[in-house]
Amino acid sequence: MAKDKLARFAAIKTFPNVLEHHYQASFPMKGHWHRDFFKNDHPLVLELGCGKGEYSVGMARLFPEKNFLGLDIKGNRIFIGARQALKENLNNVGFLRTRIDFVESLFGPNEVDEIWLTFSDPQPQKPKKRLSSSLFINRYRTFLKPGGTIHMKTDNDLLFDFTMEEIELHGYTIIDYRPDLYATLNGAEDSVENTIFRIKTHYETLFHAKGHVIKYVSFKVH
Ligand SMILES: C[S@@+](CC[C@H](N)C(=O)[O-])C[C@H]1O[C@@H](n2cnc3c(N)ncnc32)[C@H](O)[C@@H]1O
Repeated sequence: MAKDKLARFAAIKTFPNVLEHHYQASFPMKGHWHRDFFKNDHPLVLELGCGKGEYSVGMARLFPEKNFLGLDIKGNRIFIGARQALKENLNNVGFLRTRIDFVESLFGPNEVDEIWLTFSDPQPQKPKKRLSSSLFINRYRTFLKPGGTIHMKTDNDLLFDFTMEEIELHGYTIIDYRPDLYATLNGAEDSVENTIFRIKTHYETLFHAKGHVIKYVSFKVH
């Protein structure tokens, strides 16, 4: 493993804003994120597959009255967001290094208010592994508050079309649908939503530079 990757893995173990989940049967933070991690009762927003955490950190800057938690398996990516949050003294954002496949073992009932899926892997060969598949949605239901919103931002047609089909098939309620997100932002006023949409992730910047159209949908599953 590259030397700087090892250094980043070692560093996140010392960061107060990063936890690692080692697939232990009972995860001590489950049901206690507000009391034991954020030390307040503000709404909790997850970013699943957060990579370098641009969205989690960006939203934490915009909304000091909410808590944000980025989850990803790649410690060297989480390191970037966690270091930035520490540098800016952002106490309302943290990171959890884990596989998302076990997400239902990490949060208690009604513990989470919103979920962001930012440029998730499209999993072309494995639809069940897509983070908007019913397998994952049923995991989210175990901890998402009634009426809790799931947001998806992606450049990927396969994943976006799949998600829209799932929404229709299972009767989820669409809140906002923007098949060409940036077209809706050009010249638009700085509403709260638009300010959030203007945060760009690492992969978003790469895909947009290649000419991919960025898409967004938000929906409720309860
Ligand atoms: C295409 S990247 C997007 C990263 C970031 N959201 C962005 O837009 O720049 C997908 C991310 O999801 C993470 N990921 C994919 N499957 C995962 C899983 N099962 N558990 C944890 N992380 C996963 C990868 O490590 C990667 O960082």
